Amino acid sequence: MDSAVLKLLRDWREKPFTVLAFESSADDTCAAVVTSSRQILSNIVVKQHVLHEHFGGIHPSVAIEAHQRNMPGAVRRALEEAKITVGDVDGVAFTRGPGIGGCLSVGSNAAKSLAAALNKPLVGVHHMQAHALTPLLTAPLNELPTFPFLTLLISGGHTLLLLASSLTEFRILATTADESVGRAFDKVARMLELDWGKRGLGAALEDFCRTGGDFDEGQLGRGLDDAVPQLPLPMPGQLGFSFSCLHSSVERALASHPSSINSSSVPHAYKLALARAFQSAAARQLTSKLTLGLQWCERRDITVRDIVVSGGVASNAFLRDRLRVALDEYATSSVTSGSDKYEPIQLLFPPVELCTDNAAMIAWASMHRFLEGDHDPYTIELRSKWSVEDIRA
Ligand code: KG4
Ligand code: ZN
Repeated sequence: MDSAVLKLLRDWREKPFTVLAFESSADDTCAAVVTSSRQILSNIVVKQHVLHEHFGGIHPSVAIEAHQRNMPGAVRRALEEAKITVGDVDGVAFTRGPGIGGCLSVGSNAAKSLAAALNKPLVGVHHMQAHALTPLLTAPLNELPTFPFLTLLISGGHTLLLLASSLTEFRILATTADESVGRAFDKVARMLELDWGKRGLGAALEDFCRTGGDFDEGQLGRGLDDAVPQLPLPMPGQLGFSFSCLHSSVERALASHPSSINSSSVPHAYKLALARAFQSAAARQLTSKLTLGLQWCERRDITVRDIVVSGGVASNAFLRDRLRVALDEYATSSVTSGSDKYEPIQLLFPPVELCTDNAAMIAWASMHRFLEGDHDPYTIELRSKWSVEDIRA
């Protein structure tokens, strides 16, 4: 096992260290308490999406005000639910970047002031590093991913394929040229006039696709789906994502349907076929780019045994199935092509509440630095633009 992970495992047993962490980089106000023995004592997330829905994205000043309103209560609850007092906190962590500057500053100011008042060490964390290291906090000990591993981070805010080589070394293999996969799910669900439901628009689209019997992708372009276009796989063979072309294709198909006076007048069966075509195309793109990422590693003699799939979209069961099928196919093709480099690949999905933005992941990503005595000064500045490839710099 990687020596950095071994060191963490050793330290967990020796001296549990308690971190209080803050996250406010986008539209969730988060505070959490996590110990070095991988215990999440509390994980508070105050959502704001209701405030931003009608803006079609995060409205910065609305988000900043909401963070300012919500953060004190979130910290109070994090300590209460953890059943500790502030005197039990050994270190304070916060999201240093990337994110919306004004939003980041709410969590950062809270963390700095508290750490200074308590005379405790402070660590500023990279948000994407924290997402990528989450499985080291959540996976059972016998399934911990070993470096190097791949992380597919798919949410409303991110569409990224990362190669994680150590706790602090990450390489971006692919990112989106336009919008995130989560936003595309949201837009298509809105076009099809689906209800928000309990789990949000993306999940509503997944549920809608499951209605009306089994889906056979071979049906696209035939019978019921006659007029439904086969949606594109953008940038074939290239390590890069694009999702705006998928939602525009759906928009065009809806607008060009003969009975399209407005979306409500389009037949239900046609909408269902479009929803399924979109979901399949999104899954096809994600699996195809993941396979390209594996090939990229293979060509460089980098052996990857684990793939972590995280973010709100990772809860989509159809996508999970497709990813498993794609990895099985990749295994078969590696074996039949006589590659001696193929190793079985484990697919890991952290629990959904820790796939989405949270402060427990920030606490965990700070832990190795606290244990190594590597802290930041109370004067540390934010980095609202900060590539995950530059963590060490
Ligand atoms: O990680 P997340 O909760 O938050 C942010 O990105 O801030 O991701 C939310 C995104 C939304 O776009 C939502 O529609 C999408 O994840 N999502 C889904 C599903 N559940 C959530 N997309 C497809 N299928 C789902 N089951
Ligand atoms: Zn995030």
